[in-house]
Amino acid sequence: MGVEDERRRLGGAFAEGGAAYARLRPSYPREAVAWMIAEVPPGVVADVGAGTGKLTRLLVDLERDVVAVEPSTDMAMQLREGLPAVDVRVGSGESTGLDDASAAAVCYGQAWHWVEPGQGTTEAARVLRPGGVLGLVWNYMDTGDSRVDAVNQAMHVLDPGVLDKSESAGDVGAPFGHHENREFRWAWSMTTSDLAELVTTRSYYLARPEPERAEIRAAVTAAVEQHFGPAGANVELPQVTSVHRFLRP
Ligand SMILES: C[S@@+](CC[C@H](N)C(=O)[O-])C[C@H]1O[C@@H](n2cnc3c(N)ncnc32)[C@H](O)[C@@H]1O
Repeated sequence: MGVEDERRRLGGAFAEGGAAYARLRPSYPREAVAWMIAEVPPGVVADVGAGTGKLTRLLVDLERDVVAVEPSTDMAMQLREGLPAVDVRVGSGESTGLDDASAAAVCYGQAWHWVEPGQGTTEAARVLRPGGVLGLVWNYMDTGDSRVDAVNQAMHVLDPGVLDKSESAGDVGAPFGHHENREFRWAWSMTTSDLAELVTTRSYYLARPEPERAEIRAAVTAAVEQHFGPAGANVELPQVTSVHRFLRP
């Protein structure tokens, strides 16, 4: 299977998981999102690959006028329910359906790596006004912590060596030039049960048949129990949020 087919297969796997995603995935630190849009001129902020609206909600809280674009109808439905005042469109990063020069920012939360980067760059440049910002943000479990690393290895028990490396800001090309990156460290308060279930929202899990899913769940549950304690215990999970912002000349 080619890189683009594989990207589409895994990126499309989210179509099934809207409710679990909304419940189990972390949001982003407010200060990280505030930094991402700090230089954005007045105007509409597009949240592309908006999913169930975790980034959308923060952009709204930061008093921006937001349009959300999402290819999965299941995810888009969750988003409409949670944020009925937001304009939600079905579209992709390659083809947003937004007008030329209609946005002051185009943002992606944990979603840029699902877009074919050449087409996504061209589309973001088309939709942005000069002086606008392309903002990309990713959350990671901080695998510098050995307990987190052990759980992460268990999540990838069927594809060892292929650990999470979704951060793909290096794929952004011309006309974007000026680029800044900052990392924000924080702790996510959750329970061991939620940590064990988190893997069920990951594309590499969703794209597998049930017997393989069961094998992954068993490995993760065992690792969580060994390193973080029994089901229901409280966890402060170390996280890193990496934010990139690119200026549209
Ligand atoms: C990991 S989720 C992130 C959702 C949301 N932005 C957040 O911060 O929680 C990735 C999202 O990218 C979407 N996606 C997959 N392929 C895409 C594409 N080609 N263009 C835009 N979004 C895509 C998925 O449907 C999913 O909603």
